[in-house]
Amino acid sequence: MYKKVGERMKIHINLKKTEDKSYDILIDSIKQINIPTKALIVTNPKVAGLHLNYLLPKLQAKELYIATLPDGEEYKTLKYVEFLLDRMFEHRLDRKSVLVAFGGGVIGDITGFTASIYQRGIEFIQIPTTLLSQVDASVGGKTGINNRFGKNLVGAFWQPKAVYIDPFFLSTLPKREFLAGIAEIIKMAVMFDREFFEWLETHRLDDTEKIKYAIKRSVELKAKVVAQDEKEKGLRASLNYGHTFAHVIENETEYKKFLHGEAVAIGMVMANRLAQKKGLLTPQEANRVLKLLKEYGLPTCYEVKDPVKFYEQFFLDKKTQESKIKFVLPKGIGDFVITADIKKDEVIEVLEEFKRC
Ligand code: NAD
Ligand code: GLY
Repeated sequence: MYKKVGERMKIHINLKKTEDKSYDILIDSIKQINIPTKALIVTNPKVAGLHLNYLLPKLQAKELYIATLPDGEEYKTLKYVEFLLDRMFEHRLDRKSVLVAFGGGVIGDITGFTASIYQRGIEFIQIPTTLLSQVDASVGGKTGINNRFGKNLVGAFWQPKAVYIDPFFLSTLPKREFLAGIAEIIKMAVMFDREFFEWLETHRLDDTEKIKYAIKRSVELKAKVVAQDEKEKGLRASLNYGHTFAHVIENETEYKKFLHGEAVAIGMVMANRLAQKKGLLTPQEANRVLKLLKEYGLPTCYEVKDPVKFYEQFFLDKKTQESKIKFVLPKGIGDFVITADIKKDEVIEVLEEFKRC
């Protein structure tokens, strides 16, 4: 019954046959969404006021509830996760119930995270309503919340069951929010797809068909990356192009001056300067990216008052591993390198260039 004393007791659990987490992303007017169980829509007053009347007739569930969070990044916190959990328990949601994230990236992130912990994890659906969440945040299963130590530091990889991207919602999006989403589209093109970048150079995103194509291409590119590296062990870090710089800019300006996409636009220009220094990008290529960002009125410069202080803030980023900063740099247009092999002096030299804007 018992193994002999001294014999090693080792039991191996084989989890190789993991569940299939694949899902579909539909880019079109929402026709019908049928949820055979209880469902709770999570949204905010702005999105609900503008678009709930459009969504509700298209969404059938066994029982349907709505929870409304205040609008804003500052509410993407544990306190509001608890608020949602309370609503879920009050409505007796069970393990087969479904959450529906209906809003921008803030709603998507907090809803996905809450779904990941309710009764050890239930399904959720993404219905993103901003361009940024349609091309990036709703796809790939990164969910999370902020705390006093920083943004998105608490979270889970929890894939949605489906994503419904309906460009109709974008008709009410403030222009500035729309343009911030374009920065993420440009990011995808510079990293992965030269032809798409050339298409963006020659097509202005000013009608639904072109916007739909740009969303489709961005999501295809992101889906391909996520399918290969769901948990960001390597390749997925390429989606952080511009973000290493952007996070410092957002921190220094206390998340008040720039939208995330705007900070990413500046971050891409900074990364491009570094790429030029390393001989990865020609001045002509860097200018093409700069020109495209400028055409959409995105900011491309940020006054770095103290380059050394700016540099030190890279180490606060959760992606900075073992004191090594990983830079995602374009290698020409449509390709990239991820490197931790960049000297502090080289980065400081780039930051010095941004002392005056
Ligand atoms: P957001 O969710 O705050 O939305 C921006 C504003 O637009 C809000 O005021 C919102 O109420 C409003 N809005 C939403 N849809 C609208 C519509 N159709 N018409 C009019 N107004 C509308 O911001 P966001 O840019 O969508 O997302 C940013 C968040 O996404 C951040 O929290 C960021 O960390 C997160 N994010 C997550 C991922 C990921 O992979 N999970 C990727 C990128 C960003
Ligand atoms: N937005 C970065 C990622 O999904 O990995």
